[in-house]
Order: sequence, then C-alpha cells, then structure tokens
Amino acid sequence: MKIIDGKMVSAQVKESVKAETAELIEKNGIVPGLAVVIVGDDPASRVYVNNKKKACELVGFKSEEYALPAETTQDELLELVHKLNDKEDINGILVQLPLPAHLDDKAVIEAIRPDKDVDAFHAVNVGKIMLGEYDFLPCTPAGVMEMLHAYEISVSGKNCVVIGRSNIVGKPMAMLLLHENGTVTICHSRTKNLAEICSQADILVAAVGKPKFVTADMVKDGAVVIDVGMDRDENGKLCGDVDFENVKDKCSYITPVPGGVGPMTISTLMKNTLKACKLQNNLK
Ligand code: GUN
Repeated sequence: MKIIDGKMVSAQVKESVKAETAELIEKNGIVPGLAVVIVGDDPASRVYVNNKKKACELVGFKSEEYALPAETTQDELLELVHKLNDKEDINGILVQLPLPAHLDDKAVIEAIRPDKDVDAFHAVNVGKIMLGEYDFLPCTPAGVMEMLHAYEISVSGKNCVVIGRSNIVGKPMAMLLLHENGTVTICHSRTKNLAEICSQADILVAAVGKPKFVTADMVKDGAVVIDVGMDRDENGKLCGDVDFENVKDKCSYITPVPGGVGPMTISTLMKNTLKACKLQNNLK
C-alpha cells in the first residue's frame, strides 16, 4: 500500500505556478489577482479561505478578501460580483460555498463572468467540460486527476466508481475520469447494492460527506482509493469518507485526510487563476 501525498504533489504544482507567475511579472508586468468572497462565519469556510489566501501569497498572486456579514442580501452580493467582474486587476473570482440559506448560490455563480470563474461552476464552464473543450477544470476533481497522474496511475479501461453526485465534486469527477477513458459508475443515496458496486472498483472516489462511510468490505484488493471527504468523527477529529485504518491495507494506493485531496484543490485553484490571467491578457 502506498499513501498518495497530496501535500507534496500540491507543493510541486504551486512551485511551477510560482515560477510561471514570476516570469509573467518580469516579462509582462502583470500580477494575477484572485478575489475571494466569504459570507458569514462558517468555521470550515474560514479555514478554506485562509488557505486559499496563503497559497496566493506563496505563488506571488495578489489576493483580495471580501468578508461579508451573514445578513448580506442577494442584491448586495450580486453588486459585489458585478464590481469584481469589471475590476481589471482581478482575474479570478471565487465565492466560497455554502452561502447562508437566504442567498441563492446558483444566481450568484451565474453572475460571475465565465472567464473569471476559476471554480468552473458557471453553466458555461460546466457545459464546456461536458464537451471536453474547457479553459478551467473544477478544482477538486482536477486535483484528484493531477494526483493520479503524479503517481502514474492510469485510468484508461479501469472500473471507476464515484460515490456522490454533487455539482462541485461527484458529477465533474465522473466526467474527468470518463475523459481519460475510465468506465465510470456514479453511486448516490438511492443506489441499490452500493457496497457491491464499490467493491468492483479499480479506482474508488468517495465524495459523500459522511465520516468513514467506505468500509473495508466495500474495497477490492489492490484498489486505488481517493478520499474527498472532510468530516468529523465521533470524537470531533478530522477524518475522511473512508475508514482509513481498516481500508488502507487492501489498497494499492490511498489518499489520507488531511494531506490528500484538500491541498490539491488549492493548487488547482492557483493554476486556474494563472490561466484566467493569461487568457484575459491574450497570453498563451
Ligand atoms: N466549498 C467547498 N469546496 C469549494 C470549492 O471548491 N469552491 C468554492 N467556491 N466553495 C467550496
């Protein structure tokens, strides 16, 4: 069994973004800029936003944080998005989800200029991904693919099972595995025989949001197990969707939580922001 070191792969990606950014600044005098919008005080969102800002600093981007109170109205949030759409020194806009319940996240996402949508959540970008002709890939699924590439794990012809069908992870994850010629099954809360389907997976991606949901009986010997979960166990300790201790010895490769998929999400965001900056400046 090998543990996939997301922290290490993420650091490599960030180093390459940093080098390209330095070149962009030197040759073109352009500094990529990312605006991060957070509404309310969800503690997990606060941690994610802080990590995103830290990564910007590391690679040499400008980052702007817009922390709005939980009572912010839909109109106020849309007004900010429109302002950021027009701001020339901002190349990427990220509105941290989930938003407080009274806000319509779909309308907010659709208000972001597609070429600044570094999360790749806008319908235009989702559609492009379906067609396989995208500028940006969604950060978490693309981060998972980057990890598989880094460990030379081939997807082609493999039985890939994704547990979870969210717009942020499950659905785009399935599409990216399909693009690399995996045979893909998406499981969800209504799936019959979920354990049996999972136990046939060569590559199993868990994105359910339930602590230790994937148990050893659900994992084939030699499988690659990717854990997208960020959950809390019965003692309040951070854990993933996979029962790591009992599953790990059955796997050929497994990602830990923390230190697996999480850091990859952020390095992909850096890649997307750099790409947005280049596209907006007509650079290759
Ligand atoms: N909330 C959880 N994951 C994400 C993400 O990748 N992007 C945004 N904007 N919000 C999230």
